[in-house]
Amino acid sequence: MTMERTLSILKPDAVEKNKIGEIIAMLEGASLRPIAIKRTRLTRAQAEGFYAVHRERKFFGELVEFMTRGPVVLMVLEGENAITRYREIMGATDPAKAAEGTVRKKYASSIGENAVHGSDAPETAKFEIGWFFAGSELG
Ligand code: CMP
Repeated sequence: MTMERTLSILKPDAVEKNKIGEIIAMLEGASLRPIAIKRTRLTRAQAEGFYAVHRERKFFGELVEFMTRGPVVLMVLEGENAITRYREIMGATDPAKAAEGTVRKKYASSIGENAVHGSDAPETAKFEIGWFFAGSELG
């Protein structure tokens, strides 16, 4: 087992539905510890830079519009194998394919509006955490 950190975003749809607390409770219940939390509205530049790997995808414009339409909650989660375990708790990207009991099964409405984001690998987690948090904010 490895102690890891991963970036979590509660996306604008989850915040609009007032589900911040319920989702954080699911994460804490799975021993994922939020060690940094902020609620903010992403700028276009922040969203475009964060999702730069998807720049050529045809859904990129839609993704940036969605991610900037309202506030999000940015979190760094820490725990044993946090990257993989958080992805399991989120469920499949497409909520239609997400398993029962996962965050996306409960709260996501489509592949675009899918409630949460999580880093997919250690290198990505490092980039994504650094994109939104200074080292001094991680307690
Ligand atoms: P996320 O894990 O935040 O990483 C990239 C996001 O792109 C993904 O979640 C989805 O919300 C979004 N995405 C992936 N595929 C599609 C698609 N076909 N149409 C719209 N958005 C998509």
